[in-house]
Amino acid sequence: ANICVINGPNLNLLGLREPTYYGSKTLADIQLAMEKSASTLGHTVLFHQYNAEHQIVELIHRSFSNDVDFIIINPAAFTHTSVAIRDALLATKIPFIEVHLSNVHAREAFRKHSYFSDIAVGVVCGLGAIGYELALTAAHEILAKRT
Ligand code: DQA
Repeated sequence: ANICVINGPNLNLLGLREPTYYGSKTLADIQLAMEKSASTLGHTVLFHQYNAEHQIVELIHRSFSNDVDFIIINPAAFTHTSVAIRDALLATKIPFIEVHLSNVHAREAFRKHSYFSDIAVGVVCGLGAIGYELALTAAHEILAKRT
């Protein structure tokens, strides 16, 4: 299946950025690990990072026409702000898992609310980079049940 991985703003700085929260792995490390695991499971991973909200909205629209079966998304700061990205996911009805590297519930109060969790298949948070791998394993199981 085609699995689109979407990363929001500032995740291009992983490795440098607040390593106590986000770990020492770079986004390229995460991408490589996911591409490897996906090919073992027989899936194709399309990996993206954008800092701008409209680029993520448009990527979700394109995912719909490009036959993406599943989305794994770390919306980063847009988690707490973006009705537009929420609406794009609702419009395309592509099932998705929400991922956060850090435990958003153990940080500032404004990080506790997500515009995505109530419409996500599931949420992985606070487990660092391995969270993306766990989401991929879950996506594989979910897709296997559907076909
Ligand atoms: C994040 C958590 C968000 O609150 C934050 O704005 C991010 C990253 C995470 O992966 O832990 O940029 O989504």
